[in-house]
Amino acid sequence: MRIQFVASDSTTAPAGGAVAVMAFEGGKLSTAAETMDKATSGALTRAIAASSRFGGKAGQTVELVAPGGVDIQRLVIVGSGPQDGLSSEVAETFAAQAYAAVKTSGVETLSILLPGAGADLAAHAALGVVLAAYRFDKYRTTEKAEKKPSIETVAIAVDDVAAAEAAYAPLKALGEAVYFSRDLVSEPPNVLYPVEYARRVKALESLGLEVEILGEAEMAKLGMGSLLGVGQGSRRDSQLVVIQWKGGGDSQPVAFVGKGVTFDTGGISIKPADGMEDMKWDMGGSAAVAGLMHVLAARKAKVNAVGVLGLVENMPDGNAQRPGDVVTSMSGQTIEVINTDAEGRLVLADALWYTQDRFKPKFMVDLATLTGAIIISLGNDFAGLFSNNDELADNLLAASRATGEPLWRMPVPAIYDKHIDSAIADMKNVGNGRAGGSITAALFLQRFVNGLPWAHLDIASTAWKKPSTVPTIPDGAVGFGVRLLNRMVADKYEG
Ligand code: BES
Ligand code: MN
Ligand code: ZN
Repeated sequence: MRIQFVASDSTTAPAGGAVAVMAFEGGKLSTAAETMDKATSGALTRAIAASSRFGGKAGQTVELVAPGGVDIQRLVIVGSGPQDGLSSEVAETFAAQAYAAVKTSGVETLSILLPGAGADLAAHAALGVVLAAYRFDKYRTTEKAEKKPSIETVAIAVDDVAAAEAAYAPLKALGEAVYFSRDLVSEPPNVLYPVEYARRVKALESLGLEVEILGEAEMAKLGMGSLLGVGQGSRRDSQLVVIQWKGGGDSQPVAFVGKGVTFDTGGISIKPADGMEDMKWDMGGSAAVAGLMHVLAARKAKVNAVGVLGLVENMPDGNAQRPGDVVTSMSGQTIEVINTDAEGRLVLADALWYTQDRFKPKFMVDLATLTGAIIISLGNDFAGLFSNNDELADNLLAASRATGEPLWRMPVPAIYDKHIDSAIADMKNVGNGRAGGSITAALFLQRFVNGLPWAHLDIASTAWKKPSTVPTIPDGAVGFGVRLLNRMVADKYEG
């Protein structure tokens, strides 16, 4: 699919294909919609009047097939809420819905009319289409032609083509990074195991990133007994991937750490069979970090950033870690492994310690599909945010609001910290029973940040959508976190 910006002549209707326009609350037409309405002798006004439940609210659409007076096959009117509430997220959603309405209709061109909307909103409309058009179809061999998307070109009509193209350049990089992240998350676990994953990240060096890969021997030398214990039952070697982007001169780096369990069986504390296939997504946190580093490099962000991915496969085996084992982490702290299914925190413990020890960053943000409990707490539309630092947490929340990747702040209360004390080691890897399961997990991680400003995003609730209710997210991998973190870096830590 090709995206192009074209100069809008706001007085004439485009020819051919499908056309999308906005309407606002109360059924009010946008400028472009009015142009189309005149060209069709009032077909839009009539269609809206006949669709008694269309109020121009966000999410509502009305579709006209072969309207008279113009040379187009389809016209989509997309409700976009209050006219004065136009935001980048509304523009993305509008374009994504327009795309969804016609994507398999047989039409090959979609014109999205946005004269008067400004370059930034037009660029976000382009991003919205790109995000909505994501597909992971490399393993399909028999899909019928009529089920495949027919749209080949999306033309976004704007006042100032050069300005829209300039505004789109960093968002194009962002879309590609989200695709990279979604591809990693979508790959089946027999294909994407730690070594293969590391190889794909290594290929990002072509963007100007530096990528180091540490194998098991190197991690053993560093004393990473916590991470290595998790991968011990797998035939696949564990990997630690260290990605650096140096766009910020000699400034202190910002750091991002991701859980990359390429498959989580639970280990000896094995999971039930039902739904276990979902645990291929258990590397979504690391995929967000990889995607973030991808976009920072592609848009040459003026920042020094570090991404660290802890990649392991959690399998039961004769050599697997047992419930009751005690491991020594790189920090020197010992951990009694009560439940081998609470493996993500064991991976992050060493990845976080390594990151602060080597890079002395301004802050660390980790992302992890860490606990089922976060889904119980927040449902599937919010990721949990845990932090020891209000400024960092507020910056994340602001970026979350700006990008529409929802976060909800959760507590990290000192009074629960004793719940992870162990009778025979410095700590155990689960709390007492299920109470506050996401919180005790965060408290565990906090013991490995060495007092640095830190935030933890538990994205077990948002890493994938099955099915999705968000127009910019097709069913499956979300790439959750890439847009949010990119936005936070751009707004707060560049230049
Ligand atoms: N990867 C899972 C968490 C998860 C569950 C992600 C459901 C997405 C959907 C994690 O490794 C895990 O198994 N956590 C356990 C922790 C428990 C043993 C303390 C959980 O949530 O049950
Ligand atoms: Mn687990
Ligand atoms: Zn897991």
